[in-house]
Amino acid sequence: MIRAQFTFPRGFLWGTASAAHQVEGGDALSDWKAWEAEPGRVLGAHTSARACEWLQGRYIEDFDRAAADGHNAQRLSVEWARIEPEPGRWDAAALQFYRAQLLALRARNITPMVTLCHFTQPLWFMERGGWETPACIPLFERYVQKVAAELGDLCSLWCTINEPNAYMFAAYVAGVFPPGRHNLLLAQQVHLNQLRAHAAAYHALHAARPDARVGWAQYLRGFEAARPGFPPDRWAAHWQHQLFNMGWVNAVHSGRFRMLQRSVPVPECRGTCDWLGVNYYTRDLVAFDLRHPLELFGRRQFAPDDVLSEQGFIASHPAGLFRALGEMQKFGWPMFVTENGVEDAPDNMRPAYLLEHLRALWQAVCFNFPVHGYFHWSLVDNFEWERGWTQRFGLYALDVDTQVRTPRSSAKLYAEICRANAISAEIAQRYAPPVAASMFPGAVLAG
Ligand code: FCB
Repeated sequence: MIRAQFTFPRGFLWGTASAAHQVEGGDALSDWKAWEAEPGRVLGAHTSARACEWLQGRYIEDFDRAAADGHNAQRLSVEWARIEPEPGRWDAAALQFYRAQLLALRARNITPMVTLCHFTQPLWFMERGGWETPACIPLFERYVQKVAAELGDLCSLWCTINEPNAYMFAAYVAGVFPPGRHNLLLAQQVHLNQLRAHAAAYHALHAARPDARVGWAQYLRGFEAARPGFPPDRWAAHWQHQLFNMGWVNAVHSGRFRMLQRSVPVPECRGTCDWLGVNYYTRDLVAFDLRHPLELFGRRQFAPDDVLSEQGFIASHPAGLFRALGEMQKFGWPMFVTENGVEDAPDNMRPAYLLEHLRALWQAVCFNFPVHGYFHWSLVDNFEWERGWTQRFGLYALDVDTQVRTPRSSAKLYAEICRANAISAEIAQRYAPPVAASMFPGAVLAG
């Protein structure tokens, strides 16, 4: 009988991640609500109108699922536009809605992690220039102070801003998120303003709650030279990595923010990291290409032998997770994997993707990298931004019309791992035999 297993440290957090706009449904006066109404912005003209009906209270059944599946943590976000529908006016019912969510988690012994800004902001805020002007900093700070005062007794893990680099790219380079710009210089200004807003939020949370542990979720995408022997590819991959992955990280570490054209002192940001969230999904090969100036002359592509997700959005490259954690651990901050997952409605690829990424995570833990938890994206299929409902990241499949949730095989796999706090050869063998053979070669030989 083979009993090999990868065991995680006691107290490791296991959960899933979600974002308000992607799961709540119902009108919030956010920039995304307006964006979805514009023709051509979202694939298939899909909308988040119903989403997963958390606003109708379906978070309760989803938290029951998480608890039954052995999850002990849940990352979710609060919607600024709901909480502050007009500048300086607070919506008591919205705050109550989030208190109820946090109480429901605590009643199930699930540790909450709350994100304060996950890609959406009030329309009024955007109309005042959004993150493009430094005026965003006191506005975000005031909102965070309010949330800390109203919800701070129910949560200690705070994530200020989700993936500031992915937001900058999607909203200001690719133009697929509101406000739909294509301007690299503005993108960097937004990145800097958000960084300062993060620092203000960090200090506000600590002032309000001595027990607050504040970080942010950094999107870390692997960038490697397509032709390692060709210096221009290495140059493009290097600069994509530096400016996209490392901008905030270096600034919070050093107190200086490096932009394309200059470097700016940001002393108030230094050390504003009680933990770093790592969102890791995939890796690109970067080829130098003069036709891609906005991407620093780097054309990104997946490797020819990569295993790709259903819509070709993600290539499975688990080594990249280990590498990202290894690079980040040098800063000495505690870490969580705050997102990782794959779009795969038929659940063909997810079991192997999950197992292999968790093995990479386990290796990181064994190297003493200070990783304290893992949040899979996502519990239930949810509204995937400009890709609408075409991408299905859930452990549970969602029928948006009936709101029925159906567990995919991966939900059961993940539940077994969470309950055991370990991956056993036997579990791997049951859910993804080919991967089990590489993870536990001896077990296969013996079997
Ligand atoms: C991340 C986002 C999250 C979700 C996943 C698939 O970049 O933070 O909201 O859309 O991608």
